[in-house]
Parts: sequence; C-alpha cells; structure tokens
Amino acid sequence: MDLQGKSIVITGGARGLGGAMATRLAATGAKLALVDLDDGALESMAAQCLENGAAEARTYKVNVAREDEVVTLFDNVAGDFGALDGLVNNAGITRDAMLLKYKDGEQVAKMSLEQWQAVIDVNLTGVFLCGREAAAKMIELGSKGCIINISSISRAGNMGQTNYSAAKAGVQAMAVVWAKELARYGIRAAAIAPGFIGTEMVMSMKPEAREKIESMIPARRVGDPDEIARTVQFILENDYFSGRCIDVDGALRL
Ligand code: CAA
Repeated sequence: MDLQGKSIVITGGARGLGGAMATRLAATGAKLALVDLDDGALESMAAQCLENGAAEARTYKVNVAREDEVVTLFDNVAGDFGALDGLVNNAGITRDAMLLKYKDGEQVAKMSLEQWQAVIDVNLTGVFLCGREAAAKMIELGSKGCIINISSISRAGNMGQTNYSAAKAGVQAMAVVWAKELARYGIRAAAIAPGFIGTEMVMSMKPEAREKIESMIPARRVGDPDEIARTVQFILENDYFSGRCIDVDGALRL
C-alpha cells in the first residue's frame, strides 16, 4: 500500500507509541484519524502531524471499550474521509499486580477483579470492537485495508501482568484469525509485539522492576518508540505481510 493520501486510524494516537506512529505516518502524506480520551493531547498531536506532512489529521475522543462509541467512530471516520485503509489497534493500559501475595502464610494482596476487567476491557475488548467495525467499513467501502494489533512481549507471560499478558496474547491470536477470515475481501491483519520501549508506560514502572528487566535486554537499552512506528509502516506498505506477528524487543525473551 502506498500510504500517501490513505486514511489510517490510530487508537491511543495522542501520545506514546501511538504518537510516534502518527508522527511517522504523517511524513508519508497519509490522512490520520487519531483516537484517544485526552482532548488536549489529541489536538496537539494532530497539529504536529499536519506540520510533519499529513494530508489530513482529525481527532476523535472515544473510549474503545464502549461498543456504541466505536460503532459511531467508524461511521464518522468513513463519513469524514470517505475511505478507510488502515487501523492500528494501539490503545492500551496497564494495571499491574501479582496474582496473589502472601507474607508469613497470610494473603496480603491479590489482583482485583477491577484490575483484571479494566485491562481486558480496553486491551482486548477494545481491539475486538475496533477490528470488527473497521473491517466492516473496509468491506462496505471496497477497501483493501490492513489492521495491525499491537501485542507485547508480555504475551508470553510476564510476572505482575496476568491481565495484560492475557489480553496481549489474545490480540495476537485475533490478528491471525482476522488475516484468515478477511483475506477473501483483500484485507490484511497482523500484529507487532514490542519489548520494553521508552514510553511513559514503561518509564512509570516500579524502578526496581524496570531496572531488573532492563538489565536482561541483550540490546542493553529500551526501544525507541519510532522503532515500533517503523514496523507499523513496514506492515502497512507490504501487501504480502499478513497473519504474522513481528517481535521488536532487542532480543529479550520472557
Ligand atoms: N522478575 C522477577 N521477579 C519479579 C518480577 C519480575 N519481573 N516482578 C516481581 N517479581 C518478584 C519481586 O522481586 C518480589 O520478590 P520477593 O518477594 O522475593 O522480594 C515479588 O515478585 C513480589 O513483587 P513486588 O514486591 O514488586 O510486589 P508488589 O505487589 O509491590 O508489586 C508489581 C507488584 C506492581 C506487579 C511489581 O512487581 C511490578 O511492577 N512488576 C513489573 C511488572 C511489569 O513488568 N510490567 C511491565 C509494564 S510495561 C508494559 O507493560 C509495556 C509492555 O508491553 C512490555
């Protein structure tokens, strides 16, 4: 796919990895639909995208975990752009906690249902809803589009992340399902599994936990957000890439 003039939706597009993706895709002359919850951050990212060469940059304040909001989002994007060529399912949150914690034989903590559900709602259900609605619009518009789910190295199972690991394994599997189901419409689907990347999400980890993990990365550094954005660009542009997950993790393996 030649990205110039193509309409691409990025969830969680106001900052972090999504912001890096928006900035990079802007330079290709794409039309961007940035989806997030923070109005102010959305507006400044859209302005930055236009400066970087985006043909268009629109913002949508949407909670991806809500079906009604997601249905309206894709109706609006299709109406505003008249096309839909790509979706990057990037929005995600963490609510890290050990499954259980015992001290002197007494249970002192456990992952709460709220912590489980908050992450599943955004990181798994949000991806399902956006993927389903984006694919429907692509089919209706006759678009040979591409859907990318942002998974994580944590999909292999990371201590303190029962909720997040389950969701990230799920979105990788969904990309495979969609690649198989949607190929008949000319739509591709794929996943990216970033390792530890220098975003607010990683930098706000408990310092001891972050230092422990950083010391295990063979590349001896956290990743740069643009290293994930470049991978997004590669998948969008390569019409034979579908149904697979690219690990971008500096050789760290959990
Ligand atoms: N490796 C080895 N041991 C670990 C560990 C790890 N990754 N995480 C926790 N532990 C151990 C601790 O050392 C501790 O051991 P001791 O009891 O022997 O001291 C035990 O497990 C309990 O851990 P804490 O004392 O830290 O427990 P806590 O309740 O205070 O905090 C936690 C729990 C919030 C989950 C914290 O351990 C933590 O932040 N862990 C890291 C979770 C993580 O890796 N998150 C990734 C965030 S970035 C991201 O998600 C982006 C991405 O896609 C990769």
